[in-house]
Amino acid sequence: MTQPLLTVENLNVGFATRSGIVQAATDINFEIFPGEVLAVVGESGSGKSVTALALMRLHPENTIITGNVNFDGHDLLNMSDRDMRAIRGSDVAMIFQDPMTAMNPVFSVGNQIVETIRVHDSSVSKQEAWTKAVDLLKLVGVPEPKQRVSQYPHEYSGGMRQRAMIAMAIANDPKLLIADEPTTALDVTVQAQVMEVLHEVQAETGSAMMLITHDLGLVAGSADRVQVMYASRLMETGSIDQIFYESQNPYTRALLESIPDIDGLNEELSPIPGNPPSLLNPLVGCAFRPRCKFAQDVCATEVPPRISVGVNHTSRCALALELPAPAGASAGDAS
Ligand SMILES: Nc1ncnc2c1ncn2[C@@H]1O[C@H](COP(=O)(O)OP(=O)(O)OP(=O)(O)O)[C@@H](O)[C@H]1O
Ligand SMILES: [Mg+2]
Repeated sequence: MTQPLLTVENLNVGFATRSGIVQAATDINFEIFPGEVLAVVGESGSGKSVTALALMRLHPENTIITGNVNFDGHDLLNMSDRDMRAIRGSDVAMIFQDPMTAMNPVFSVGNQIVETIRVHDSSVSKQEAWTKAVDLLKLVGVPEPKQRVSQYPHEYSGGMRQRAMIAMAIANDPKLLIADEPTTALDVTVQAQVMEVLHEVQAETGSAMMLITHDLGLVAGSADRVQVMYASRLMETGSIDQIFYESQNPYTRALLESIPDIDGLNEELSPIPGNPPSLLNPLVGCAFRPRCKFAQDVCATEVPPRISVGVNHTSRCALALELPAPAGASAGDAS
């Protein structure tokens, strides 16, 4: 069997604040295999970005992190800052929601790509790196790349800037791309174009991708596997079909019922009642319990266990094996 590229075990991420510890990621366990696209979904504040930033060690100072993260044989959480810098931007690269936070406004796009290349491999000449920058801009669909490579980020439209950031992220052929809501700041048509670019690039480079998104429609069309987060915990992990048609987790099901069907035929949307809990106090029992229509007494007191509910399909729910078949799980729907 193929070895995972990334293995995350018992990852906890907390922030020491004046009001107490905000537990933003709790007991997170997952793997990413070479070349696959793993989508991470879940409502705002569930810990998606915090998890990704902790993997990249881009977290703020007040962060308390425990657990194990193995990336391609490297112990990411315990390696020196220097070794981490060598891996970040070369073997693992991140694409952010807002390119302006990742790009430097005072350098041309070309210069920033050149810098990204040369900081990891000083044997590449400036000229060679510049030529590569033009090729990369072309690959991500920036028109007239030879001219536009000399322009500054503010001279690019939002969609073009996002393409430029993808170019920068893939400049050193990363084995893993982490894309955190790469298209939310863009309008719908440009979103689709940028996603297409991301996919072409991912297919071309063969890199694995962790795609963080709110957009379940996007997930259905672009990921191999999905994991669903709620209130700092990973609630369910599985293939697209397992999550969309065979979910064994009440939160996943509620999330799916709250969005239009991927085929646009969803009869009636049912929003999830209530709000996610505060992460400031330690969560007792299952965080989704107050909003869960299946909740039972055990859910109030016990942290929901991770239960294997199928091949490479896990659910964090005490009742995972007892839930009724999901709505719309008929054979016809799964096609
Ligand atoms: N530096 C910080 N200090 C304190 N709390 C933080 C900090 N960064 C994030 N949090 C909290 O951690 C929780 C998880 O945040 P995170 O940004 O990971 O959510 P998310 O799932 O990415 O949400 P979104 O979909 O809105 O991007 C939130 O409750 C957030 O307020
Ligand atoms: Mg986020």
